[in-house]
Amino acid sequence: MTTLAIEGLCLAAGARPLVRDVSLGLKRGRVLGLVGASGGGKSLTVLAMLGLLPAGVRQTAGQVRRDGRVLDDAGRAALRGRVAGLVQQSPRACFNPILTIGQHFTETLAAAGLPRRAIAAHAGGLLEEVGFGAPAPLLGAYPFQLSGGMLQRVMVALALARDPDFLLADEPTTDLDLVAQAQILALLERLVAGRGIGILLVTHDLSVVARLADEVAVMQDGRVVEQQGARGLFAAPRHPASRDLLRTHLALYGETLPEDAG
Ligand SMILES: Nc1ncnc2c1ncn2[C@@H]1O[C@H](COP(=O)(O)OP(=O)(O)O)[C@@H](O)[C@H]1O
Ligand SMILES: [Mg+2]
Repeated sequence: MTTLAIEGLCLAAGARPLVRDVSLGLKRGRVLGLVGASGGGKSLTVLAMLGLLPAGVRQTAGQVRRDGRVLDDAGRAALRGRVAGLVQQSPRACFNPILTIGQHFTETLAAAGLPRRAIAAHAGGLLEEVGFGAPAPLLGAYPFQLSGGMLQRVMVALALARDPDFLLADEPTTDLDLVAQAQILALLERLVAGRGIGILLVTHDLSVVARLADEVAVMQDGRVVEQQGARGLFAAPRHPASRDLLRTHLALYGETLPEDAG
């Protein structure tokens, strides 16, 4: 079984702790939701897994393991794209505005050693997989010619280009309109069912978790304060931070937590 895990991760900026003793495990074919209010340390946790911490943030404890083996810095860097594809929040900020979509695929796939003559066909197949019926014209398009939702699907296709076991999806629907959100969630669902990919799905939105996650970890102020099966979390959230998230979620439907009914 292919697994990817972090154990006891601690991150700090100077003397200020940002992430404290976080452990998370991913398995193929499963979706782990990582939820919590903004500023809780979700994105830094994802970046640490791939050795992509921003300048000024350092790891003070913990490790990343693939199939049980501890990875050093080079091992984490080698996960990128090949073992774990990264999908980030703002698709427009993740594309180079002066490169076409096809050139983005060329950069990713040539770096992976795919012969140039094979790249267009492979890119076309990936774009079909993420829902583009006629991918050929898309390869010549520039990022500004595509909507945010289209770009996000292209980002998923790029993340899949090297056939990774996992996707690390950090707020993949947050900047999208409702139709595009639903398309991305349906796409992620298909990738789990069809490819057996495992997903770390970072979101502050419990609706996203309700739809996709098998297991959920709730983060607050740098700590995982609760982790349990998704059904359990919705039926009986234990930590106040989880109950706050659930309240916000239920309010969208005009509902309240049983404990709040009076
Ligand atoms: N480069 C950085 N330098 C210092 N602090 C940072 C840096 N990046 C993020 N932080 C701080 O780390 C905390 C966690 O951030 P983040 O992981 O982005 O949270 P989340 O993704 O849960 O919203 C926040 O308080 C944020 O201000
Ligand atoms: Mg974040």
